[in-house]
Amino acid sequence: MILVTGATGQLGGIVVENLLKTTPASNIAVLVRDENKAADLKAKGVEIRVGSYFDKAALDASLQGIEKVLLISSNDFNDRIGQHKNVIDAAKNAGAKHIFYTGVTMKDIETSPLKPLLADHYQTEDYIKESGLTYTFLQNSLYFEVVPMFVGAGVLETGIFFPAGEGKVAFAARQDLGEATATILTTEGHENETYNLTGSESYSFAEIASELSALTGKEVAYTSPEPAAFEGMLKQFGLPEGIVVMSVLFAAGIKNDDFNLANNTLEQFLGRKTTDLKAFLQATYAA
Ligand SMILES: NC(=O)c1ccc[n+]([C@@H]2O[C@H](COP(=O)([O-])OP(=O)(O)OC[C@H]3O[C@@H](n4cnc5c(N)ncnc54)[C@H](OP(=O)(O)O)[C@@H]3O)[C@@H](O)[C@H]2O)c1
Repeated sequence: MILVTGATGQLGGIVVENLLKTTPASNIAVLVRDENKAADLKAKGVEIRVGSYFDKAALDASLQGIEKVLLISSNDFNDRIGQHKNVIDAAKNAGAKHIFYTGVTMKDIETSPLKPLLADHYQTEDYIKESGLTYTFLQNSLYFEVVPMFVGAGVLETGIFFPAGEGKVAFAARQDLGEATATILTTEGHENETYNLTGSESYSFAEIASELSALTGKEVAYTSPEPAAFEGMLKQFGLPEGIVVMSVLFAAGIKNDDFNLANNTLEQFLGRKTTDLKAFLQATYAA
């Protein structure tokens, strides 16, 4: 039986939806915090197991009888490594055979401005290796879906004001990542592999602005301000401190070219081209 954590989240939901295309629901379990959010999955015959990454006892019970565990990284930065360790320990205690982990693909976490935020992905991978469990690391690129968050809701009127310089990102659509993850979970030969799952092409924010202009007929300019000016603007908007810090760090990471890592691994798992910038922007801004 395969268990997917984070299944009431966006990526986990896509993974389960795709697993159901090839795997009987009776072979799929999900770990959720709130059973009510999983009513649709329950109706499809998926087994619902309840537990938080913080609750060791619930995790120990929930992981019984599971062969493969997909650990979707937590979106809660409060002791995220501790949360992940609890799931890994429970998987080991319950006798799981293989753990899959959704981390991040970056050039070098050690020299990245994002180290304070994202080093825990690599610490999680180290902990999995130390556990002795068979593993597969799904190092995901930045989602295309973060672009609207970085450029802001009024982008077509204001242009893009984001301190990412000329840095490029091999964005991948969440849908593509979820689909490929389901394939990897249900096919042979992924023991102790690390996959860098990215879009097939990298794009700069100048290219995003230019593609948006072409798509909408509006002149969308790109400005890469000083980080302090960007930070000041976000604070002026009244955004929470955590969001401000995260946005500034991501911009710095992108400027550092941390995510300029396009390759064709995701394309190969999908058996088709990955979603490209034009298709993503069309679906998001021209619909
Ligand atoms: N590559 C990227 O660009 C990118 C962007 C954003 C996030 N991420 C990372 O990738 C992960 C998956 O992305 P996503 O878009 O699917 O995120 P998401 O929609 O926010 O889903 C996160 C999932 O984690 C679950 N979760 C959080 N804390 C938990 C806990 N203590 N115990 C059990 N489950 C917990 C949430 O449960 P509930 O449904 O109960 O809330 C949710 O199902 C994120 O969690 C984050 O680590 C990557």
